Amino acid sequence: MTIIADGKLLAEKIYSNIKAKVDKLDRKPMLAVIITNDNEAGKIYVRNKQRACEKTGIQSKTIEFDADVSENTLINKIQDLNNDKNVDAILVQLPLPNHIDSEKILNAISPDKDADGFHYINAGKMFIGQMPKTIACTPKGIIRLLDEYKIQISGLNAVVIGRSNIVGKPISQLLLQRNATVTTCHSKTKNLEYYTKNADLIVCAIGKPKFLTGNMVKDGVIIIDVGITRLDTGKLSGDVDFESVASKASLITPVPGGVGPMTVAMLIQNTLDLSIQYSE
Ligand code: GUN
Repeated sequence: MTIIADGKLLAEKIYSNIKAKVDKLDRKPMLAVIITNDNEAGKIYVRNKQRACEKTGIQSKTIEFDADVSENTLINKIQDLNNDKNVDAILVQLPLPNHIDSEKILNAISPDKDADGFHYINAGKMFIGQMPKTIACTPKGIIRLLDEYKIQISGLNAVVIGRSNIVGKPISQLLLQRNATVTTCHSKTKNLEYYTKNADLIVCAIGKPKFLTGNMVKDGVIIIDVGITRLDTGKLSGDVDFESVASKASLITPVPGGVGPMTVAMLIQNTLDLSIQYSE
């Protein structure tokens, strides 16, 4: 039997826990989101984030800049938000326009208000197994989902496809911390199937629709599909060819309704956690 992991349902459960906690707070947490107006996909995510904030009683504000905004303008805005006692968490929606150095911008956010866990200090602490203020939302959501379905990560052969700073690298590290044996594959990996066919758990995060197919995996594999691409048909597709892979998998996340809702739920969790740390 194949379990289709319901990220949407788990996200709703997380929201009701968060709401119960927020209801008890005198000062409601505040998430500030910065986005540039050329980021069309980002705007959809930002809307989902706003909805999740409304659902849980968290305050949010979105600050939109023109695509030709300067680095200095963005950094000045971030510094204002760093100094604003009413703001607990700051997120800069990626990607930023090409003329902007994203690293510089992400590291201008105070590590104490780093909603995404992308700041060097938080990412670095996560990599050495120290307690960061926050952990990147998608990898954190994947681990939460695996825990919900009582997957014993320890000892598994885990293959991560993709090595981005947002997903591939941090999820590889989190799985390693849970004692999986982790192989991080990427566009230069030779004979990818050699790795995927031996994997007990595959995290696919490369942004190529239907990339992973049933003939590349073994029976009983656990599949986490991070990809989300809109096809010409208008339908959303993950990085995994759902039909052929699901027939072999013991657990698989659907697209939509798997990892995506978990990412947003973890952002809201990070915002609450930062607001509590901040007021302590
Ligand atoms: N763009 C795509 N994914 C993400 C994410 O997790 N955080 C931010 N800030 N931007 C993104």
